[in-house]
Amino acid sequence: MKQLMIKPAIYQYAHVKEFVDEFKIGQGDLIITNEYIYHPYFSELNLACDVLYQEKYGAGEPSDEMVEAIYKDRKGDYKRIIAIGGGTIIDISKIFALKNVSPVLDLFDGKLAIEKDKELVLVPTTCGTGSEVTNIAILELNSKNTKKGLALEEMYADSAVLIPELLSGLPFRFFATSSIDALIHAVESSLSPKGTRMTKLFGYKAIEMILKGYKRIAEGGPDERIPLLEDFLVASNYAGIAFGNAGCAAVHALSYPLGAKYHVAHGESNYAIFTGVMKNYMEIKSEGEIAKLNQFIADILGCDVKNVYEELEILLNHLVQKKKLSDYGVTEEDLSEFTESVMNNQGRLMANNFVELDARRVYKIYKELY
Ligand SMILES: NC(=O)c1ccc[n+]([C@@H]2O[C@H](COP(=O)([O-])OP(=O)(O)OC[C@H]3O[C@@H](n4cnc5c(N)ncnc54)[C@H](O)[C@@H]3O)[C@@H](O)[C@H]2O)c1
Ligand SMILES: [Fe+2]
Repeated sequence: MKQLMIKPAIYQYAHVKEFVDEFKIGQGDLIITNEYIYHPYFSELNLACDVLYQEKYGAGEPSDEMVEAIYKDRKGDYKRIIAIGGGTIIDISKIFALKNVSPVLDLFDGKLAIEKDKELVLVPTTCGTGSEVTNIAILELNSKNTKKGLALEEMYADSAVLIPELLSGLPFRFFATSSIDALIHAVESSLSPKGTRMTKLFGYKAIEMILKGYKRIAEGGPDERIPLLEDFLVASNYAGIAFGNAGCAAVHALSYPLGAKYHVAHGESNYAIFTGVMKNYMEIKSEGEIAKLNQFIADILGCDVKNVYEELEILLNHLVQKKKLSDYGVTEEDLSEFTESVMNNQGRLMANNFVELDARRVYKIYKELY
């Protein structure tokens, strides 16, 4: 059994200037980013490359329509695609490293020939997705009302670049939702049957770094995160390495219909589902890896393992307030529709569940969270 693979070379720089110099960014490069990220750090460097601002092509998380719009607007053939942004920008950019991109729906249905013809450099500016080290791009497929991940060997980056300085302007709410996403990557991959001692080395370390950081934020307020941004960026990268190998599972699978239909940010919709899935795993099987994980988390939180999910929610509520599904506008009819969508579209993720969850169980989880 394969134990661990880390594909891109991982770099870290204290400052943007060092990255730009070492990577010799210039002609032949296309930077995909947001203007409000590019402007404060890159504008004054007067780079000779093309720059494209994602927000001009639609708001919110990445969709097939956004990718089509950017595709139509590209100006040239590029040697390198350089993504500087959150998961939204990184996932879009992965697709642009491919030769055949459009129609995007055909790409997702496996109908286009897959060929990588550009170098890919990924620079995360949130601390959540770990997408810089995975081969997955996740898009909202607007016509299908769900999100779907496309995993291709060809979408691994050549270089993943960590620059903590870039996170200093990240608003607290995006810090919160993205880091909860990283925590869930670490948890889901550690419980996955594909998890190995090596993936868990990264997964458990990420859980520890994130929860210890959250405890400081809970005690001292949101500004406590500022000296910890490097830790959170590295933790999210570790969690990316863990789930890039061992996979995510039901929390992500059940959160996709909610995120897609009600436009809930990825990390927040994961949080809405998180403990519901964990409690149902425990109802089916409470020994093995889940017992080890719960004890690990309880030790960090300093609580009795019996109350671990309640205590975890109290801590996470300092970051994002947990809501019921109905608070997002979800209706009772949605619950059956979401269940069907999970069972039909999310097999890739549901294969990694700690224990098998059938359609009845998925419905039950939604209902309990409703
Ligand atoms: N491919 C993968 O492996 C993978 C894994 C998990 C999640 N994802 C995807 O990632 C997306 C979510 O990514 P995310 O949580 O990073 O959020 P995001 O990319 O949607 O960013 C959230 C907001 O923060 C802003 N922002 C980002 N960095 C900033 C900075 N440094 N300063 C100021 N503003 C900044 C963005 O412009 C955006 O408005 C979802 O679409 C999800 O499906 C992908
Ligand atoms: Fe995620």
